[in-house]
Amino acid sequence: MTRFTVNGQPVHYRMDPETPLLFALRDASNLTGTKYGCGMGQCGACTVIIDGQAVRSCQVTIAQVEGGFVTTIEGLSRDRSHPVQQAFAAEWAVQCGHCTPGFVMAAAALIVGNANPSDLEIDRALTNLCPCGTYPRVRRAVRRAASIQAGRER
Ligand code: FES
Repeated sequence: MTRFTVNGQPVHYRMDPETPLLFALRDASNLTGTKYGCGMGQCGACTVIIDGQAVRSCQVTIAQVEGGFVTTIEGLSRDRSHPVQQAFAAEWAVQCGHCTPGFVMAAAALIVGNANPSDLEIDRALTNLCPCGTYPRVRRAVRRAASIQAGRER
């Protein structure tokens, strides 16, 4: 049995320890906001935050997460939208939306430790793929989210 915390709740998975975290989240915990894209660590649609780091959940097994703290898009905020979610809406950074949860999670991890990310830092932190090509709007949204989080914008 593999135990860790997902969105503040303890979870115990009775699955093969080599099961990708992505499948455990989606199939066992019904947390379907985390998306399956390529399954190869390329697209970033499956990004979650593990112990403060943005991680592609298709590339880690549940055994590797043992004892860790996982946050998915469903657990990013409790009462109101997270600053990244607010900024993505304000900047129209969503098109078809499939890649959006992954971008949001990567951005949320970035702005925790960086209140004013440069374009280069954003590009390095968000290597996710968006088939719709929303990259310029995503970049604006991340800068805006950092401002909201830092209290420079309401
Ligand atoms: Fe994990 Fe594409 S589904 S990186």
